[in-house]
Amino acid sequence: MLERVHSVRRGAQFSGEGDDGNDESKTRKNISMAMRASNYLTRTTYLWPFIVLFLLLLFHFSLIIHSRNFVCVSSSSDPLSRMRFFAVQDPDSDFGSLGVPWYVQHSERKIGSTLKNYVADVTPTDFVNTHWNLIYNPCSSCYFWLSKHGKTVEWTSKDLLKGLEEFVPIYETRPIKNNMYGMGFDHSFGLWFIARWLKPDLMIESGVFKGHSTWVLRQAMPDKPIVSLSPRHPEKYLNKGPAYVDGNCTYFAGKDFVDFGSLNWRSVMKKHRITDPSRILVFFDDHQNELKRLKQALKAGFRHLVFEDNYDTGTGDHYSFRQICDQFYIRGGGHSCFKDSDEARIRSTRKKFWEKAVDIEELCGPSEAWWGVRGYMRDVFNHSNKPITYTQHFKNSRFVESVLDVYWELPPVAGPSLTHQTRYDPARASTPIVEDGRFRLFQRLGLTRLDTSVFNGYTQMVYLQVSAQIS
Ligand SMILES: *[C@@H]1O[C@H](CO)[C@@H](O)[C@H](O)[C@H]1NC(C)=O
Ligand SMILES: *[C@@H]1O[C@H](CO)[C@@H](O)[C@H](O)[C@H]1NC(C)=O
Repeated sequence: MLERVHSVRRGAQFSGEGDDGNDESKTRKNISMAMRASNYLTRTTYLWPFIVLFLLLLFHFSLIIHSRNFVCVSSSSDPLSRMRFFAVQDPDSDFGSLGVPWYVQHSERKIGSTLKNYVADVTPTDFVNTHWNLIYNPCSSCYFWLSKHGKTVEWTSKDLLKGLEEFVPIYETRPIKNNMYGMGFDHSFGLWFIARWLKPDLMIESGVFKGHSTWVLRQAMPDKPIVSLSPRHPEKYLNKGPAYVDGNCTYFAGKDFVDFGSLNWRSVMKKHRITDPSRILVFFDDHQNELKRLKQALKAGFRHLVFEDNYDTGTGDHYSFRQICDQFYIRGGGHSCFKDSDEARIRSTRKKFWEKAVDIEELCGPSEAWWGVRGYMRDVFNHSNKPITYTQHFKNSRFVESVLDVYWELPPVAGPSLTHQTRYDPARASTPIVEDGRFRLFQRLGLTRLDTSVFNGYTQMVYLQVSAQIS
């Protein structure tokens, strides 16, 4: 319990909105004054009853200070104060009205129970019982993306933890140590974990670079075939430094390159004696419009897709699912371009702390277009750049929603106070597998042995499961 409270405090330092911190320093000042006073008073023992009274009063005041946020909840049910309540409790959600879009179901539950413990620690039980729904269920559409048809991923945060323990030593043997511009630790783990969980008969990757992802897939499935598509063959990197070329991989690369959308998948499957396309895992790290890739994957009948660079709205070089699903009807979705809105204020604060956070000027293009990147649908490493209307953007989301059963964002491996990453804003990511403050767990998993630079590449890698009836 203490650890959790501690982690909440620590998180508050990262939030930059140090409300909680101020209260603490105030309390600390009071205490040091009290110490001096009591030093004086110990020399005048007849004043003991006053000391007791004084300490009692101090205790009472500190209770008032600390329970202020709960009063906020009990006295009002407006969504903003509820958000503020969450901001104090959970550093990951202190994006105020922005929140975290389409929160991962299991972490929501986890946050719920941690919160319940925390609240139970400092408040009377009947308060918790009366207000629990208010605390626990801040919105009804949170689970929208993950529970369509009641479906979500099979794995739990416990499975992820177990996977981490196993993956760290594997990762340490990677051939490409410095994978600058390629995948870092978080996504390598995510890809390895998903591949190992699904146990596909064939793995396809679009976008190979030096071959690190090929190596990751190979670690997950030592005996399964891989098909890799890349304009540049990874062997080309070999004479410049480390690269990975797999012995059991069919390369459509270099002069043999074929784009994912143009390859005859039926003949590739036949060659590998695969009749059921749902036994195939497809991994995209090719910086193409993800809507375009989804449509191509649907045509081939693939059902398990992983997208590496799932950029947040206003960032990145291609239209991503994170961007597509960023809609007003999703919690934390849809944005405001008003210069003096809450969102504008929060964004400019967050930008000071996190390199990839964008403020309202960067987010909004002409005519207050915030969707995609400033109203543009980017494609092909941003070499193609088309403006889209809000209606089109909205339709894209409805389409994606109609063909998917599961949208699952890989959580970051650990909180920023542990990884020391400064790039992505934790408020726009789901709760990390190892939460801030859990240093001993972080250490036990072997994560302290890794260079901190490997934690900088997180961009909300997403696993998508296509509905069965689509083929
Ligand atoms: C390719 O896979 C087969 C079957 O799993 C295995 O016997 C063979 O050693 C592999 N070849 C290479 C070069 O890894
Ligand atoms: C993307 O392309 C647009 C238009 O060509 C350009 O204005 C913008 O600076 C590019 N952004 C990046 C990050 O390359």
